[in-house]
Amino acid sequence: MLILGIETSCDDTAAAVVRDGREILSNIVGNQDDLHSPFGGIVPEMASRRHLEVIDSIVRRALTEAGAQIRDLDLVAVTAGPGLVGSLLVGLSFAKGLACATGIPLVPVDHIQGHLMTMDLAGGTPVPAVALVCSGGHTTLYHLDGTDSPSILGTTMDDAAGEALDKASKMLGLGYPGGPAIEKAAANGDPQALKLPRPLWGSDTLDFSFSGLKTALYVFLKKEGYFNPAPRTRGLPFPEKDIAASFQAAVVDILVRRSLFALETLNLRDLVVVGGVARNRLMRARLQEFSKEGGFRVHFPPPALCTDNAAMIAALGYRQRRWAIRNPISLNAYSTKALKTARKNTEETTA
Ligand code: KG4
Ligand code: ZN
Repeated sequence: MLILGIETSCDDTAAAVVRDGREILSNIVGNQDDLHSPFGGIVPEMASRRHLEVIDSIVRRALTEAGAQIRDLDLVAVTAGPGLVGSLLVGLSFAKGLACATGIPLVPVDHIQGHLMTMDLAGGTPVPAVALVCSGGHTTLYHLDGTDSPSILGTTMDDAAGEALDKASKMLGLGYPGGPAIEKAAANGDPQALKLPRPLWGSDTLDFSFSGLKTALYVFLKKEGYFNPAPRTRGLPFPEKDIAASFQAAVVDILVRRSLFALETLNLRDLVVVGGVARNRLMRARLQEFSKEGGFRVHFPPPALCTDNAAMIAALGYRQRRWAIRNPISLNAYSTKALKTARKNTEETTA
């Protein structure tokens, strides 16, 4: 079965062709870093416009690279949410148009569940397992039990891990995306130089919190006069590489500690780590170390499958093909905010 995946939930325009949910024939990602970097974060309106400009050529490239034509496709899978609604609507509308014009069935899928599929594309997802999705928009622990709706063990109460890294990078003037920029700046830095908090450290929870960490960095930099107008007074007590290393270490500590606690709580031996932050080399190294000591296995997809891509969307579409629809004209996108509100309402009614 040949599936075309389309993903435009945030700032990457992506299309991929995947056979039978596992074999990647093409995986094209057009990132918009050049567009958003001067602003230190994503400008939603600009992201949607860029998606619109490039989606046609990205889909064509994905088909060409896979050696496929539209008539060869059995299914189109598209991200319907969560994400930036303006961005989502571009991919969704494109996919709807394609499906309506050709009669190819369309399956709308969830972006976060898409991330959870990436190990399927990298040799197989272990079950049962704990999965950590850590990206720019999400930081959530799941219990993978082989069903289509893995249960949430814990999630962030405020910012996502990647969002915290992006904001820290913006404060330090290192550009967007912040995760790789902080990682680069942190090389040879002293991770102990700046004492930063690890929110919820001692508490018995599988939830996360990053906003206090972000604020601590802001307060420190402000106190040191770092944000003074040009010429900036950059009389910091230690070099910026130490600040980047200290911040990265704090984020990694939090992610690692919660993941280990989840494994212990569920008495499981497999940990899957996905999402953009899973590219981070310090986190990979720390978890590899702990896995040897603790007798568990840690699974990371290759870096290119950690950040947003459409191969994971096609893989999820394959799994969820029974929900494909033939007349998708009324399909709508859903935002991150809508998902959070829906979850909160569910919690309140079940409390
Ligand atoms: O999964 P993703 O592409 O998009 C979302 O679903 O949000 O993740 C993007 C996030 C950004 O916050 C980016 O700064 C972070 O992943 N990221 C990293 C690294 N590469 C990307 N964070 C830490 N270290 C990296 N090497
Ligand atoms: Zn993502």
